[in-house]
Amino acid sequence: MVETLGGAESIAPFFSPRSVAIIGASSKQKKIGYVIAKNFIESFAGKLFLINPSAQQILSHKCYPNISSIPESVDLAVIAVPAKSVKEVLEECGEKGVRTAVVISSGFKESGKDGAKMEEELVSVSRKYHIRMMGPNCMGVFNSTTMVDTLFIPRYRLKRPPQGKIAFISQSGASGIAFLDWAAGERIGISKFASYGNAADVDEADLLEFLATDEETKVIAMYLEGIKEGRKFAKIAREVTKEKPVIVLKTGVTDSGAKAALSHTGSLSGTDEIFNAVVKQTGMIRVYDWEEMFDIARALAYQPAARDNRVAVITNGGGAGVMIADELEKHGMALARFSEETTSKLKEKFPPHVTLSNPMDLGGDADNERFREAIGAVIDDDSVDSLILTCIPHTPAIDLESFVDMVVDTKGKNNKPMIVCLPGGRVSLEVRELFEENGIPTYPTPARAALALSALVRYGRLKNGS
Ligand code: COA
Repeated sequence: MVETLGGAESIAPFFSPRSVAIIGASSKQKKIGYVIAKNFIESFAGKLFLINPSAQQILSHKCYPNISSIPESVDLAVIAVPAKSVKEVLEECGEKGVRTAVVISSGFKESGKDGAKMEEELVSVSRKYHIRMMGPNCMGVFNSTTMVDTLFIPRYRLKRPPQGKIAFISQSGASGIAFLDWAAGERIGISKFASYGNAADVDEADLLEFLATDEETKVIAMYLEGIKEGRKFAKIAREVTKEKPVIVLKTGVTDSGAKAALSHTGSLSGTDEIFNAVVKQTGMIRVYDWEEMFDIARALAYQPAARDNRVAVITNGGGAGVMIADELEKHGMALARFSEETTSKLKEKFPPHVTLSNPMDLGGDADNERFREAIGAVIDDDSVDSLILTCIPHTPAIDLESFVDMVVDTKGKNNKPMIVCLPGGRVSLEVRELFEENGIPTYPTPARAALALSALVRYGRLKNGS
C-alpha cells in the first residue's frame, strides 16, 4: 500500500474512537451541537464528553467547560462552534493530546478569501500538533458498527442504514445524506460513511486508503467534486481497486458545475478528460448519478465478480428478455451459448413452447419448479459466467411465497453472480425487497439490471488482469 502522511492507521480513530468529545454541544434542540450530542448519547458505547462553556448538563449528561478540563484522554474531537472560534478550540485539542478532529463548522475556504486564510490557519494548527482533521464544512462520520455518528440530521428525519458492506465517502454532506437515506429506506447496509467537506487535511485519498484495509467494507463508493492531489489519489486508487471495487461519481464536469463546486467546497474540478484518464488508469468504475451509484454498489457488495462477459437470461416474459438482450450488448456483454447438455436436459423436462435458446423464455405458465430447473442447469453450464433472472411475478403459476427462497437457495453456486430484474409496481416491489434482504440485487428495469451486472463483469476483468 502507498504511504501517505499518517497512513491508514491515522484515519481509524475517526471511525472507532474509544472516547469522543463534542465541542459546542448544546441543549437547544434546533442546534447542530444538540443533534450530534443526542446521537452519541443514544448509541455510542465508548466514553463521551460534552463541552459547553456554560451548561452543567445536556440531556442529563455532565458537561465540561473546555477540553482541557476533561480528566481523561480523548481520541476524537467533534467541533461544532462558529468558524471564528475553531482555531482556538483546535489548539486546545492539540495541547490536550487529541490527534483526530472532525470540524463540522462552515465559513472557511468555501466562503471566500478570508475563509481560505482561516482554513490555512487550521491546517497549520493540525500540522503543529499532528492532528488528523476532517473538514471543515463537513458532516463527518457514521460507522454502523461503533455508532460513531456526527451527522447533524436528527434520526427521526434520517433513519440510519443498517450494518452492511458498502462504504460511502462524499465531499458533499447533502449527497451523503441522500445516499444514506436511500440506503436506509431500501434497507441496504452501510459499513462506514464520511463526508469530508473542504478536505483541508483528510482527503478522498486518505479515506480510500483506510477503507481498503477495513474488513467490514467490500465496496467503496465516492462522491467527488474535485481531487486535492491528483497523483496521490491516482496512486492510491490504483492500489485499492486491486483489493476492492471503487465506484466514483464525479461532478463539476461543466463550466457551471465547476463554478458551483468552487463555492460549495472550494474545489477545483479539473477537466473531465483528465478525470476519465484517471478512471481508466486506476480501474475505478465511473457513474453519473446517485441511482447508478446505488445500483452498482449493491451488486458489487452482494455478488461475486463475473469470470467473463457471457450472460444467461432466464425469463417468463419474452419482451423483458429482448430488452435485457439489447441492454447487455450496449454494455459490452454477450448472451451465452448454452451447451448441448444444458438444452437437451431441459428439453426433456419442459413443455415444447419453452424457448431453450438465450434468453430462455420459460413461458407465461412457468411455475417455481420450471424456474428452479432452468436456473440450476444454466449455473452449472461452463459457457455461462453470470445470470440475469427477469421475472414477471404476477403470473398465476408462480408461488410468490416460496419463489424468493427457491432463488436464494441457488445464490453463490459455482461463484457465479446473479442479478434479478423484476419490473412492475406494488407486487414486484414487495418481492424486490425480499430479494434484497437476502443479498440478491434486484432492479425494476432491464437497463438498470444490465448496468449493475456490467460492473461485476468489469471488476472481474480487472481482477483477472484481462
Ligand atoms: N467551546 C465550547 N462550546 C462553545 C464554544 C467553545 N469555544 N463556543 C461556543 N460554544 C457553544 C455555544 O455556547 C453554544 O452552546 P449553547 O447553545 O448552549 O449556547 C454551542 O457551542 C454552539 O455555538 P453557537 O454560537 O450557538 O453556534 P451555532 O450552533 O449557532 O452554530 C455551527 C455553530 C458550527 C453549527 C455554525 O457555525 C455552522 O458552521 N453551521 C453550518 C454547518 C454546516 O453546514 N456544515 C457543513 C455540513 S455539510
